[in-house]
Amino acid sequence: MKVTVVGAGNVGATCADVLAYKEIANEIVLVDIKDGVAQGKALDIWQKAAIDLYDTRTVGSTSDYEKTANSDIVVITSGVPRKGDMTRDDLISINAGIVSDVTEKVIKHSPDAIIIVVSNPLDVMTYAAHLKSKLPRTRVMGMAGILDTARYRAFLAEELNVSPKDIQAMLLGGHGDTMVPLPRYTTVGGIPVTELIDKDKLDAIVNRTINGGGELVKLMGTSAWYAPGSAAAQMVEAIVRDQRRVFPVCIKLEGEYGINDCYLGVPVILGKNGVERIIELQLNDDEKALLKVSAERVSAVMAALDKINEAK
Ligand code: NAI
Ligand code: 2OP
Repeated sequence: MKVTVVGAGNVGATCADVLAYKEIANEIVLVDIKDGVAQGKALDIWQKAAIDLYDTRTVGSTSDYEKTANSDIVVITSGVPRKGDMTRDDLISINAGIVSDVTEKVIKHSPDAIIIVVSNPLDVMTYAAHLKSKLPRTRVMGMAGILDTARYRAFLAEELNVSPKDIQAMLLGGHGDTMVPLPRYTTVGGIPVTELIDKDKLDAIVNRTINGGGELVKLMGTSAWYAPGSAAAQMVEAIVRDQRRVFPVCIKLEGEYGINDCYLGVPVILGKNGVERIIELQLNDDEKALLKVSAERVSAVMAALDKINEAK
């Protein structure tokens, strides 16, 4: 198995490191636009193999996509962060340009790859990659739900003083402040979480989860990478090993949940063909209303991207 990770920054390099360390792929190609950065990080990860005892070969490339040829999976983390004088539309335009360009190049050399997008704004960058790749929707997906549920599970584990391993949770919607954590679908060792935590505390944890990305940006001055990199690697692992894991994943909805033509996080089964199945939960009215708001928010940003593309 060959995996390409585009963007050798914080998230991309962490993802490549986890993939190598866990021997999820035989070969990993790390690509970046900055001269030498991907080669340096790939070499560093390869030198760690003798210490951590793995066989995965890591190769770096500065914008040479021939090295990525015949990749089975491509993880896209390239992008720029929002700067002070940038509008939201500027950021969408710049990052969509980067994601579209990168997608075109990787697909040229790996036409049958499965694409996992990480770049922000996540749901709309998944749209951009899907537009450019023209692959079936089951092969172009975005990573956010695994990260968001991991944060939710970590906060619950801390509150209950239990292992995060025993917390199962699901979450829907866009990656941002309209995400919809689902306490009704959250269990601790099989016990509904609502039996273990009172409503006020649970609401506070849900709220902290929704603002989980921002909490880290405030602390570090940049966004997180350890959990995001591992989350993307976990999606790669599920596909490479055909694990049929059930994860929240961003995919284009075509009627599921009563929503059309919108990229949103929903529970899916992830296996060798990418998204093997979308699972439709029986939502109550409150959950449906929250998901509708989230879909409207993502659709508005998708429309902004359409306008930018039309103006070109
Ligand atoms: P970073 O700035 O550390 O790395 C981005 C890398 O992309 C840089 O090395 C840059 O040189 C590279 N790059 C820019 N244009 C490129 C191009 N055309 N081709 C190849 N490489 C290019 O940023 P970081 O922290 O790694 O984050 C990456 C992206 O992931 C950001 O958009 C961030 O907002 C997003 N993110 C998404 C999460 C999610 O849950 N979906 C979680 C965390 C971050
Ligand atoms: C995160 O949630 C900012 O998407 C990034 O950490």
